[in-house]
Amino acid sequence: MAVLFRTDKSQMKALPDISRVLAPIGVRLEHWEIPGDQTLERLLSTPRLDPSEQEKVLHFFLPRFDHLKKTLGYQTQDLIVLSPDLPGIEALEEKFRSIHTHDDDEIRYIVEGEGIFGFVLPDGDQVELLVEGGDYINVPRGAEHWFRLTPSRRIKAVRYFTSREGWVPLYTGRALSPAFA
Ligand code: LAC
Ligand code: NI
Repeated sequence: MAVLFRTDKSQMKALPDISRVLAPIGVRLEHWEIPGDQTLERLLSTPRLDPSEQEKVLHFFLPRFDHLKKTLGYQTQDLIVLSPDLPGIEALEEKFRSIHTHDDDEIRYIVEGEGIFGFVLPDGDQVELLVEGGDYINVPRGAEHWFRLTPSRRIKAVRYFTSREGWVPLYTGRALSPAFA
């Protein structure tokens, strides 16, 4: 379950409280339990997955994808699998560590591991949100955010796209709060 960290070091764990903080920037957080299935559990506990294993994982979440296709027009999905031994992991971490926006919503369903999203609130204050297996997040287009891994440097997440082009970070040049730098 997600945990919100504020610059004053306070924390929030209740979903309605977290949602209240994130609502002004349009970020939506939901929790969808990961189905209890032995094949899925085995795949999720494997640090690196080949493309056919990734497809198998995605298969377990097809109803969710169908729903997003119908309601929000999403067209493609993939599974991102990060682990400490992944070639290029440092460059990837670097890329999303600075405050950026996208031209499309950033929709992620975390299925294993954990990661931290950061957001800039309307008053300029910043918050960080720890997300883990079962957490579903929708960061609206244009919302200033960043992303970093936790020390485990391990996460698996389903990503949903309306198109694959343009999945680039647009850096806003804003500095991270010293609380999170
Ligand atoms: C992204 C995240 C990690 O842009 O912010 O994919
Ligand atoms: Ni992003």
